[in-house]
Amino acid sequence: MGKERGQAYLAERLVSCGRVRVRASTPATGPAESDKSVRPTMKKDKCVRPRKGAAVAKESVGLSGMMFPNPVVLVSCGQGEEANIITVSWAGTACGDPWMVTVAVRSATHSHGLLMKYREFVANVPTVKIMKAVELCGSRSGRGCNKWQESGLHADESVAIRTPGIAECPVSMECRVRHILDLGLHTLFVGEVVGTRRDREWQMAPTVPVYVEGRYYAVGPAVLG
Ligand SMILES: Cc1cc2nc3c(=O)[nH]c(=O)nc-3n(C[C@H](O)[C@H](O)[C@H](O)COP(=O)(O)O)c2cc1C
Repeated sequence: MGKERGQAYLAERLVSCGRVRVRASTPATGPAESDKSVRPTMKKDKCVRPRKGAAVAKESVGLSGMMFPNPVVLVSCGQGEEANIITVSWAGTACGDPWMVTVAVRSATHSHGLLMKYREFVANVPTVKIMKAVELCGSRSGRGCNKWQESGLHADESVAIRTPGIAECPVSMECRVRHILDLGLHTLFVGEVVGTRRDREWQMAPTVPVYVEGRYYAVGPAVLG
């Protein structure tokens, strides 16, 4: 990605995080202020009076594609000595037949190179018991450390691919990368699930973490419907 494009993405991200205040939806490399034909019509910080009967008053906050909540997934990638773990929250189920899951990974990460090289990964669902490992795998790079050793997590053998899963996670979805989409700051890896392993206790609904704008929340076994 070019430097200019990278800066535009960074600017958008900062706006979406509310850390800087610039004209919403006017990217750094976007149209000049004077070009009225393409000037965005959205007004930032405009508080809209709720319609009669509506429960909430929404205001324009610039641009954000953030979902609430995001899952927390430990993605193992690479093989043998190269195997690594990256924490991702921009992940999701994408198709039911065949089963497909997606992970969005920044090209600057070590894991990105491993995903490109081996074209497979395991999407492991952690429980709240291993939050320290989740944090470590999301803040250190596999370029400079062995995250298996540092986190205390153990590799377990996959049934369908050569990339190992994570023994401490109750769910491991083994994926072969079928599509790679360069979206900008992140690359979307679409993986077909070719093997799924679950802890037998999974039916007991263990408490798993979710991520909402920089904070973790626990989703427990309470069933609402
Ligand atoms: C809760 C959480 C969620 C994260 N989600 C993502 C994500 O969806 N995509 C991504 O590229 N990085 C994400 N990160 C950051 C990476 O985990 C981090 O950059 C990591 O150090 C990269 O490791 P690597 O260089 O070994 O691949 C997340 C971090 C945390 C703590």
